[in-house]
Amino acid sequence: MSEESKRRPIRSFVLREGRFTEGQRNAYDRCWPLFGVDCIEGKKLDPAQLFNNHHPTYLEIGFGNGEALAKTAAQHPENNYIGIEVHRPGVGHLLIQLETQELNNAKAIRHDAMEVLRHYLPEQCLDGVMLFFPDPWHKKRHHKRRIVQPEFVNLLARRLKPAGTLHMATDWKDYA
Ligand SMILES: C[S@@+](CC[C@H](N)C(=O)[O-])C[C@H]1O[C@@H](n2cnc3c(N)ncnc32)[C@H](O)[C@@H]1O
Repeated sequence: MSEESKRRPIRSFVLREGRFTEGQRNAYDRCWPLFGVDCIEGKKLDPAQLFNNHHPTYLEIGFGNGEALAKTAAQHPENNYIGIEVHRPGVGHLLIQLETQELNNAKAIRHDAMEVLRHYLPEQCLDGVMLFFPDPWHKKRHHKRRIVQPEFVNLLARRLKPAGTLHMATDWKDYA
């Protein structure tokens, strides 16, 4: 193994940006200031400050195109939702849904969720975490890329409030 690959962190995703049309880029640029959250080194994210309220806050990790997140946020205006996703077209898709549906109780972070959990979210700030169909990394040699690992679970336990919930769904039996 090369020195470089020894140092490179094992990530739970491979970034494939795919097609990002000019229309999508314009929508992204327009909506990001309204619904996007930037991670600034050394600064913790405070949900109460982000949403300007003290409503229960739920985090969805790896929201894909954000359909589930937008739907849940629309059904539960009494809660706040933060979604994390690395795939820019997916983030763009969510931003447009939030704009179209005029949802002010959901925000998007485009960042590695592990980094967000490690460095940007304070202790006991979440009422629940949702993890729907995380990449199964089904080959045995790729299992180390699965996001559910001891460090992930420990971080969730610390970022969740007492009695906070984890809702995970997967259709891979051994991952479940
Ligand atoms: C299999 S997809 C599932 C998407 C969605 N939850 C669904 O049920 O349709 C997994 C998603 O997690 C995202 N993802 C994987 N690891 C991530 C990480 N560390 N941080 C943020 N997003 C991640 C991927 O980009 C991908 O969109």
